[in-house]
Amino acid sequence: MDFTRFRKEKVFQRGRGGSDAQHQADEALFHKLLERHEEIERHSRKIANGIETTTRITSGDRDLVKILQTHALGMKERFDGNRAIRSWDPLFVSLFDHRHEITFEYEMLEDGIRVRLGSENPEVQKIIDLHDQTLHAFIRYGFVAAREESPYTP
Ligand code: HEM
Repeated sequence: MDFTRFRKEKVFQRGRGGSDAQHQADEALFHKLLERHEEIERHSRKIANGIETTTRITSGDRDLVKILQTHALGMKERFDGNRAIRSWDPLFVSLFDHRHEITFEYEMLEDGIRVRLGSENPEVQKIIDLHDQTLHAFIRYGFVAAREESPYTP
């Protein structure tokens, strides 16, 4: 039976992220995080205008801590450089389209990263919350979640 016609076509709404070296480097980092999602823990708490997230590597593996920190900043730089990612996923398209309304402050931790994401715009705060739910699902379910539109619910 030919199942290909059932496969949902991924429609890229902001141009493909491209297959250049930077895109491949970014992808390699988050694939590593998805592969090793069981070594990652994340706590989020509400703050004024947004959230504060603390993401830690519970295995203490120094390389994975570096990968996590490089990923988080790499994604911010990508957005600041007007480069989209995961443009087939409506939530990431919204996150990209509102990137100028999102403040991103971070603090490197011995075993991870603490980030404060905020916005004056209540509609953008909702997108930040959905992205937070998405990262919790990536950490809980790994690639199973990353294959689906966000936020993934089993
Ligand atoms: C287990 C896998 C992953 C982990 C642990 C992770 C972790 C993080 C962390 C800690 C941040 C900083 C902001 C925050 O704390 O909310 C972040 C930001 C981000 N991540 Fe990931 N990530 C993962 C997978 C992915 C994947 C698969 C993608 C997309 C293909 C992605 C795209 C982004 C983007 C675009 C941002 C920047 C958000 C912004 O600047 O507003 N992440 N990620």
